[in-house]
Amino acid sequence: MYRTNTCGELRAANTGNQITLSGWVDSYRNHGGFLFINLRDRYGVTQVVFTPAVGDEYFEIAQALRLEDVIQVVGKVNPRPEGMVNPKMPTGEIEVQAISVALLNKSVPVPFVPSGFDMPSEETRLKYRYLDLRRPEMQHSLVLRHKITKVMRDYFDELNFVEVETPILGKSTPEGARDYLVPSRVSQGCFYALPQSPQLYKQILMIAGMDRYFQIARCFRDEDLRADRQPEFTQLDVEMAFVEMEDIISVIDGLMVRLCRDLRGEELTLPIPRMTYDEAMERFGHDSPDLRFGMELIDVTDLAKECEFRVFKDPAVSGGRVRGINVKNVADHYSRKAIDELIEYTKLYEAKGLVWFKVEADGKLGGSSAKSFDDSLLEKIGERLGAEANDLLLFCCDTFEVTCKVLNALRRKLAADLRLYDPSKLNISWVVKFPMFAPDEETGGWTAMHHPFTAPLAEDVPKLKTDTAAVRAQAYDLVINGFEAGGGTIRIHDTTLQSEVFSLIGLSLETAQSQFGFLLEALKMGAPPHGGIALGLDRLVMLFAGLDNIRDCIAFPKTTKASCLMTNAPGAVAPQQLEELAIRTTVEPTADGI
Ligand code: AMO
Repeated sequence: MYRTNTCGELRAANTGNQITLSGWVDSYRNHGGFLFINLRDRYGVTQVVFTPAVGDEYFEIAQALRLEDVIQVVGKVNPRPEGMVNPKMPTGEIEVQAISVALLNKSVPVPFVPSGFDMPSEETRLKYRYLDLRRPEMQHSLVLRHKITKVMRDYFDELNFVEVETPILGKSTPEGARDYLVPSRVSQGCFYALPQSPQLYKQILMIAGMDRYFQIARCFRDEDLRADRQPEFTQLDVEMAFVEMEDIISVIDGLMVRLCRDLRGEELTLPIPRMTYDEAMERFGHDSPDLRFGMELIDVTDLAKECEFRVFKDPAVSGGRVRGINVKNVADHYSRKAIDELIEYTKLYEAKGLVWFKVEADGKLGGSSAKSFDDSLLEKIGERLGAEANDLLLFCCDTFEVTCKVLNALRRKLAADLRLYDPSKLNISWVVKFPMFAPDEETGGWTAMHHPFTAPLAEDVPKLKTDTAAVRAQAYDLVINGFEAGGGTIRIHDTTLQSEVFSLIGLSLETAQSQFGFLLEALKMGAPPHGGIALGLDRLVMLFAGLDNIRDCIAFPKTTKASCLMTNAPGAVAPQQLEELAIRTTVEPTADGI
């Protein structure tokens, strides 16, 4: 038997027991002829003491132990001597007096120590992922992920949902990203597409009468990666028949209550607050607004029209917007240089600049641009923004879209810099009534904002052809701490309406037929009204763990270049493999996947 107990288990009540532990050497110290080894496994750390009484053979083994060696220790549990109790360690009341030790595996010197204070670069952590995953924080996030999926599975099972697996080798699905393709050996020249989501299959499952489906599903999207995106990620995917938006929202509300209760011991009050897409863009400039702090966007376009300051006036009179935020009580912290840095930062979001004012002790707006305004206008602007002494007012004057992008980015950055929220808390909300279509910059036409199977709001159907921009979708996003945690829609279950939407987004009947003809055909054979949602599991774990990087919630993630530094995937393949697939590449493979 390798062990009788884990390294996180022993307490004062075990005093006197003879036990066996196995694990990794977390640290070693030699104190006047006594060796102290901290032994670590997934469950914790236990202090083991070797005294010369253990005998020469075992003492020599113990003396040669180094970090990350794997050992087995037989010993006796002793209470720690007076004054040596470590209240920070769950096992801190005891130590194990070694009776014997066996070296199970010697480690070479490791590039970094899992329990070390100095974290190596992320590249090093990803290359030696097995060392990184030995860190308690990483083990915690993997265990949390397991618990989240367990709560999900239990919850959906209780509600009569059935987990159905859908294919990984399939046809392209229209989630809007580039596909990962897999060449077929048998049908040469043909490719499978890895699923961007199980969207089409889950709709087919509703047509097949499954009624309530869920799946913890792997998805693959070849898109530009960010801190909250991975090329391969996991969704909690849900679809239900005979439902409206409210039914889906209430199932997910219930799930969030369960997750908060079971994993955080918190009672989430229902209903989860909702706002429309239009309101979110107006008040926060983003469709996944971070509601943990205020600093809302305030419109002063009407006032800007009255002024002679061209930076304000020109966008205001030419269909753009002038909007600002009030950063409360910080003006004295922001030097000219600090404000210039903020302006530089907003240029990443297409800002041409920012107009700023500092509110002086007498309540008047001051700052470099103040002299370009007359006093009464400055007073009105200050009043609109609720300006008080020492506030910093920042304005973006541009198209609606640019003011959204810039002020959203600024709002988030300032709130993080100024610590305006408690990062350990969760703020959950819904955003509903999204536009159905977004302008397609490439073609000048329209694209589906969610995916082309999304149903329009019933009252907006008559506007499909006459006022396409104004058509809203039966779409809903779950937003947590300013991240899109999930999104879903009620689907079109009527082929005529589906064809109309395809034609509006410039998808010819032939293309639709060749891409998802099977769905169009199935829709004609008794499709029930249906709808669903998918939550990003990796993002959910990130948010529940209070982390800000999705890679820390995935055992073996990819870099922002979509490569795995541990395995060096993607890599070159043998010429013979390419031959079998009838594939000839036009470039030499770049260095093995890096
Ligand atoms: P959507 O594309 O909005 O909807 O995706 C649903 C959720 O999946 C997560 N997500 C990602 N997480 C990590 N890395 C990525 N690259 C990534 N892309 C998306 C997000 C997002 O909210 N089939 C529809 C759902 C439906 O209509 O039922 C879909 O996939 O948290």
